[in-house]
Amino acid sequence: MLNYEISEDRHRLYERYVNPQWVRLLNVLQMNVEYVRASGAELHTADGRQLLDILSGYCVHNVGHNHPSIIAAIKDELDRQGPAMLQSHVSELAGELAARLCASAGGRLSRAFFASSGSEGIEAVIKFARAHTGRSGMLYAEGGFHGLTCGALSLMSNPFWTEGFGALLPDTAAVPFGHLAELERQLSTQRFAAFVVEPVQGESGIRVAPREYLRRAEALCRRYETLFVLDEVQTGLYRTGPFLAAHHFGVEPDMVVLAKALSGGLVPSAAVLMTDTVSDSVYDSLKRAFVHTSTYSENSLAMRAGLATLDVLEHEQLGRRAAAIGERLRSRLVERLRGYEMFAEVRGLGLLCGIEFRAPRRFRLRLPFEAFARIHPAMFGQVVVMRLFRDHGILSQICGNDFMVLKVAPPLVITEEQIERCVTAVHALFELIHTSASFWTEALGLARRVMNV
Ligand SMILES: Cc1ncc(COP(=O)(O)O)c(C=O)c1O
Repeated sequence: MLNYEISEDRHRLYERYVNPQWVRLLNVLQMNVEYVRASGAELHTADGRQLLDILSGYCVHNVGHNHPSIIAAIKDELDRQGPAMLQSHVSELAGELAARLCASAGGRLSRAFFASSGSEGIEAVIKFARAHTGRSGMLYAEGGFHGLTCGALSLMSNPFWTEGFGALLPDTAAVPFGHLAELERQLSTQRFAAFVVEPVQGESGIRVAPREYLRRAEALCRRYETLFVLDEVQTGLYRTGPFLAAHHFGVEPDMVVLAKALSGGLVPSAAVLMTDTVSDSVYDSLKRAFVHTSTYSENSLAMRAGLATLDVLEHEQLGRRAAAIGERLRSRLVERLRGYEMFAEVRGLGLLCGIEFRAPRRFRLRLPFEAFARIHPAMFGQVVVMRLFRDHGILSQICGNDFMVLKVAPPLVITEEQIERCVTAVHALFELIHTSASFWTEALGLARRVMNV
């Protein structure tokens, strides 16, 4: 048995046997700290720091880190020593979780397929949509993020994610997010099985779909017999207020993908909700009863964690909380940041918010900013993340497809005091960026080091 006494050894093992570049990047950004405990919206490090998490593992920790009820449910499930992974029984827990998810989602969604990640959920969407329509094409919105498996990657327009991985699925096309005429032009070719879109594009800079866009997109999909699919991997499970972001827009998708927060951040899990008819077009005979499955999809730990997560979200009314605190957070940020040259706007729904920076016009700021951008377009945003972490003890990230937007998506259990801590820190950082030459000189030094790594 391996016995490593200090975690530094484990860091070295990770560097050696998993991904050395990831460790090097965290080191350069001074974010490679040893975490010992996480609870609610707080993270505790081995050297005694207490950090505030406003990233939530990209919307995984809606109920907060290590919620005691979910831990208790998982322990109970292990102690029960019930049937698990038999692959030849009916998973009662999956039935119960599916029924509850469909009841909360409403509309046409009346069946679930379980998976273990958002990407795997998107893969299922592709197969179910193709089986249902007999068409192979997939349409998606530019700038979206749907996962990094080959099928999901085929629905992503940013070459950063796709380059170097060879040919992806044929017969896919992108339409600009929010552009109905182009959507109709593509749909009218009647070669697309589904149109896949996020109601709020998360990685693309927290871009909330324009009010009427999703409703009219849904109507167009119906007209051209294309399935209307919402990727709610980040927006689902009360992140934006209601159970689904779809509920803000009054749309009834044919399929919805949920993942991330579904199992309280403790067990991998995902669910694709769909109509009976879409499901029946895959499972259409005894012969095809298991034609699309996945070994761990209905595993009892994920299902128990999912049920416990729904209980917590409902009992603690975290959707209502997300809506109220999100509003307050956005207005407090605007109050404190308006007037700064590099502040563009704050946007979002519920507790999925983005703070957009803009390129400065004044020469004194423009010069270093442009030097940065020449080194790497993500560099400015990464330095913002680093400074929030180092100077203010706040764990955040910029959006994967828009490096000028800082994501603020804390656990839905974040307190008013923690929100104030976040606003104060972001304000202090804006002040520093606009007044301190050392912010830029230090940052440029770091940027050069990163490029030499
Ligand atoms: C909107 C969206 N869809 C799909 C995915 C893929 O999920 P996973 O990383 O669980 O495969 C992500 C991941 O960040 C996402 O943000």
